[in-house]
Amino acid sequence: MAVLEVRNLSHCYGAKTQMQVFAVKNVSLRVEAGELLGVIGHTGSGKSTLIQHFNGLLTPTSGEVLLDGENIFKDKATTHAARFRVGMCFQYPEYQLFEETVYKDISFGPRNMKLSDDEIDRRVRKAAQFVGLPDALLEKSPFDLSGGEKRRAAIAGVMAMEPEILVLDEPTAGLDPRGRDTILRLVEHYRTETGSTVILVSHSMEDIARMATKALVMNRGEAALYGTVDEVFSQGDKLVSMGLDVPAVTRIFLSLHDRGVPVRTDVYTNEQAAAEFRRLLGKEARA
Ligand SMILES: Nc1ncnc2c1ncn2[C@@H]1O[C@H](COP(=O)(O)OP(=O)(O)OP(=O)(O)O)[C@@H](O)[C@H]1O
Ligand SMILES: [Mg+2]
Repeated sequence: MAVLEVRNLSHCYGAKTQMQVFAVKNVSLRVEAGELLGVIGHTGSGKSTLIQHFNGLLTPTSGEVLLDGENIFKDKATTHAARFRVGMCFQYPEYQLFEETVYKDISFGPRNMKLSDDEIDRRVRKAAQFVGLPDALLEKSPFDLSGGEKRRAAIAGVMAMEPEILVLDEPTAGLDPRGRDTILRLVEHYRTETGSTVILVSHSMEDIARMATKALVMNRGEAALYGTVDEVFSQGDKLVSMGLDVPAVTRIFLSLHDRGVPVRTDVYTNEQAAAEFRRLLGKEARA
């Protein structure tokens, strides 16, 4: 059974007013345990609106969200429980750091879950380890941390709730290349260590192609493409027509194909590109 299932979900902001915006339109998807779903799309395509339904923060205008087959809006207690089962890390989460120490900030979620002090302590230290924050930093003020460290502290706060599903909304936005790499590596490590399901919103098609098992492409509120990474990224021409930044190798193969070179157009990783070049060269050598 899917851990998360979304059925025909639509969300309208300011419904029945002159300002109404249909931010998400009729989106359906299924995420199996342990998968990494990558969500891609232009700014304003509805990514953040969609994912904020997964833990019941936003209520659908129509449609359903199911966790382990159970509708999270069934009753108040189920919706409340979804807050902890699905850990949500917002865009620029460091703006929500507010406690005197990093330790207190990371423990905010687990404290809300009314866990024992020992259990809270265990979780805070484990989450800090996952994001590579040394113990010495835990007693510092979050405002004394660097940008990358603040971001990692905020992510640790969500990990410390030990959610079944970890949702990260553009966790690398605004960081330098090294900070971005660190975050992506720690997400991969967290996923292999815990076996958790992860949903990652990203503007980087390259990162999604490399890390995700499934991909969802949002376009003007709709799920334009959804499937395994292979199914989605092999449709480079469609991604380009939506104005999305396909991986550099995909662009090269699409343009070779446009110039009449008989290459595959469903290439999106360096390994596939190398194999395709080998195939072409082999053909030439035989000819
Ligand atoms: N609180 C809100 N009230 C009204 N409209 C909103 C609200 N939040 C988002 N919108 C609108 O809904 C649409 C989808 O926005 P959303 O933030 O979900 O997109 P996004 O894909 O996450 O964009 P980005 O990549 O910039 O984060 C946009 O047209 C946006 O202006
Ligand atoms: Mg967003």
